[in-house]
Amino acid sequence: MDILLYVVALGVVAFFTGKFIKHKSLYPFMPFKYDFRKRRDTFLKTMELMEQINAKVIIETGTSREGLKGAKSNGAATIVFGKWAKEHGAVLHSVDINSESIANSSAEVERQGLQDTVTLHHSDSLDFLKDFAQPVDMLYLDSYDYSSHDVEIQRKSQEHHLEEFKRIADQLHENTIVLIDDCDLPNGGKGKLVIAYMLEHGWKIVMESYQVLLVRNNFALEKAV
Ligand SMILES: C[S@@+](CC[C@H](N)C(=O)[O-])C[C@H]1O[C@@H](n2cnc3c(N)ncnc32)[C@H](O)[C@@H]1O
Repeated sequence: MDILLYVVALGVVAFFTGKFIKHKSLYPFMPFKYDFRKRRDTFLKTMELMEQINAKVIIETGTSREGLKGAKSNGAATIVFGKWAKEHGAVLHSVDINSESIANSSAEVERQGLQDTVTLHHSDSLDFLKDFAQPVDMLYLDSYDYSSHDVEIQRKSQEHHLEEFKRIADQLHENTIVLIDDCDLPNGGKGKLVIAYMLEHGWKIVMESYQVLLVRNNFALEKAV
């Protein structure tokens, strides 16, 4: 009986230790309870680089449709980068084609007091990016949903993210940072085509995990890379 209790107790401790180790928070930047899991380290590196280049204009394609609740699933980047922007005198433009995504993201932006920093645009990202007329310091590509099994959706998503990059390319300067979400997925994820294109056009990878972070080959702040 004693041994049985011991084994159960050990199992419980192992379970909670495992959960704790897997929990990847952005604390103290964000409350500890939010688990950013597979995006935590690339978010941290992106914010470190944004700090170094003194980023002022951030664009996100695909907004935080689940608000902060979606930290583990979707990333909650609108809130993470929105908060960073607020603390650094920058602005974040987040564009989404879906009115429900915009409404949910807008509610979270308000709850977090980010409404003066984050502007939500209800539009197809391709139209929005084509018309965006300011230099962009950080570009986050995370719109057209990917599928882990449907090859046609995979192709459309990959083509869409490549086209997003091409539409805004003229506004990317020598220190612009580009982060692409949902890359470590079957058949290359959202970034497959755009990353190949960028590597052929003077960009390099800084960090590669679930997300891929890129800067230009001649990125000025060498020590950061
Ligand atoms: C994965 S979610 C974005 C998650 C968000 N970046 C975050 O960190 O929480 C993808 C979003 O892209 C939007 N989307 C899909 N196609 C789009 C398009 N052509 N233009 C703009 N947004 C699009 C969807 O409506 C959805 O809200």
